[in-house]
Amino acid sequence: MIRLAQVGLGQWGKKLLRNFDALAEVVWLCDVDEERCTEVMQQYPSARMTATFDEVLADGTVEAVAIATPVPTHYELARRALEAGKHVFVEKPPAMRGAEMEELCELAEERGRVLMPGHLLLYHPAVRALKEIVDSGDLGDVLCIYGNRQNLGTIRTHENALWSLGVHDLSVLLFLIDEEPSEVWAHGHAFLNPRVEDIVFCYLRFPSGKIAHLHLSWLDPHKIRRITVVGRDKMAVFDDMEPERKVTVYDKAPEEPTTTYGEWKTRTGDIYSPKVPTTEPLRLECEHFLRLVTGDGDPLQAARDGLVVVRALEQLQASLETVRV
Ligand SMILES: NC(=O)c1ccc[n+]([C@@H]2O[C@H](COP(=O)([O-])OP(=O)(O)OC[C@H]3O[C@@H](n4cnc5c(N)ncnc54)[C@H](O)[C@@H]3O)[C@@H](O)[C@H]2O)c1
Repeated sequence: MIRLAQVGLGQWGKKLLRNFDALAEVVWLCDVDEERCTEVMQQYPSARMTATFDEVLADGTVEAVAIATPVPTHYELARRALEAGKHVFVEKPPAMRGAEMEELCELAEERGRVLMPGHLLLYHPAVRALKEIVDSGDLGDVLCIYGNRQNLGTIRTHENALWSLGVHDLSVLLFLIDEEPSEVWAHGHAFLNPRVEDIVFCYLRFPSGKIAHLHLSWLDPHKIRRITVVGRDKMAVFDDMEPERKVTVYDKAPEEPTTTYGEWKTRTGDIYSPKVPTTEPLRLECEHFLRLVTGDGDPLQAARDGLVVVRALEQLQASLETVRV
């Protein structure tokens, strides 16, 4: 079994820990908050605990670390872990600048180690199903993808809606479109805390002509977790709030104008939902990381995909700042 250290034992770190504990040998629990460490230790008595990351890195028997600390600490902790020869799973986004993420990718490649960002939705069976539908060509050419991630939910005071919510949808739409954007725009407003946008609208255009849009907000009456793909022939929706119909395909499209009148008509056909496995995405994500550590799969593909996400986030943030009032 792979010997792993869980770093960061907050809300999300505990969820990762529950999964890694079932799949690997968790040998260290690390959190700067000693009280939290002691509390979590009660459930995992065979692991050792520390508030010092260096102690984890100094243990030559630790093969992998899973980092779930606040975003601004990710790059530094991931870099030090790779330098110490550990395989690294790090929560999204692993860095806040493209140049830092590139450095992490190069370091992982040089040291022959796995670097995997925690883009959870990419392991969601419904997102995988949507990707298969898009790649099969069933929707025709994809014209537009838009994401809605809204809720009157956790109000962050340091991280804006782009970095906190948008990172999820960006990872999915870049995975579906499989291109880097050529143009990005973001507008938003910080209503509650200075310089922390609670509502953000993003627009992206791609070299192929596809466009994308995101509506991100924790100031909203609706709880929406949805990605819509508009194809030339059909349309498809991933709705994570739906308990069963996570993916729905709509056989709807405009039809060519008739030669006589030049008028566009619309076609409305069947609506269907493919069966999607209900396996917990987090379990699949953890399994994927551990498989990579054992040498099964490309150890850097996820990091390269993560680099595109960080670059897009950085550009969107720059755009957001140019229109800040
Ligand atoms: N993939 C997802 O869907 C998802 C969901 C929620 C959170 N997250 C990510 O998980 C990470 C943690 O989020 P959270 O909600 O658990 O936050 P949290 O604030 O509840 O927990 C963070 C923990 O990290 C500890 N910590 C801070 N600096 C540290 C350091 N240098 N070394 C060791 N421990 C340190 C803190 O003491 C705290 O216990 C964030 O990056 C967040 O974006 C991902």
